[in-house]
Amino acid sequence: MNRLERVIVALDVENGDRAIEIVKECKPEISYFKVGKQLFTAEGPALIKRLKDENVRVFLDLKYHDIPNTVANAVIEAAKLGVDMVNIHLSGGGKMVKTTVERLNEFYQINNFKPLLIGVTVLTSLGDEDLKEIGFVHSTKEMVKRLAILGKNNGADGVVCSPHEIEIVKNTCGKDFITVTPGIRPNFALTKDDQKRIMTPGMAFERGTDYIVIGRPITRAESIKEAVEKLADKLR
Ligand code: C5P
Repeated sequence: MNRLERVIVALDVENGDRAIEIVKECKPEISYFKVGKQLFTAEGPALIKRLKDENVRVFLDLKYHDIPNTVANAVIEAAKLGVDMVNIHLSGGGKMVKTTVERLNEFYQINNFKPLLIGVTVLTSLGDEDLKEIGFVHSTKEMVKRLAILGKNNGADGVVCSPHEIEIVKNTCGKDFITVTPGIRPNFALTKDDQKRIMTPGMAFERGTDYIVIGRPITRAESIKEAVEKLADKLR
């Protein structure tokens, strides 16, 4: 896959009509889109069907975290919707990951298809102090490493991590273990928004990431088409 095929645009908007408008403006250069909690809560599974009708790939970013059976069942429902990537919180524990992986493998036996299972390590909004407050004794970096290893050992396909953690994850879990990195700001984007540790798309790919997630620099651009063109020029 070339780099452009590994760009995922985050559809963080209020409704399905706006999401589909953005998809149409991003195509054909961009063909992978992320649906998160806001949009999915507003529109539900019908939106996934609309996106699939647009012939694009979908990352369902609902970050499931619950008892193993509940998470596994939810992930199977996501798989039935035909999404290409789905994620769970690795802090839900190894058993939760393992149960989900087993259920996905059974699903694959029957359907010959399954979404990539990606683990969330530590949210990029949390720093060392926040982890201490929850009662975690390790630093964010150490936690990312531990949770990535937990994900890998229990059969997850990869992790969501900051672009600054790509190397740690690849070095500890191997280069085939997928990294999906948000916190991306192209040079043409004027603001960092609320992202703290950012990187340009080119640099994130240079560091070896598999997928980048980019939202507002595209979806809030004055001209989405122009923003996509600029991004495509950098990545071709
Ligand atoms: O607009 P922006 O490019 O900051 O969007 C990044 C997307 O990636 C958002 O949907 C955000 O929820 C998501 N994300 C993140 N950091 C994480 C996990 C997900 O920014 N650690």
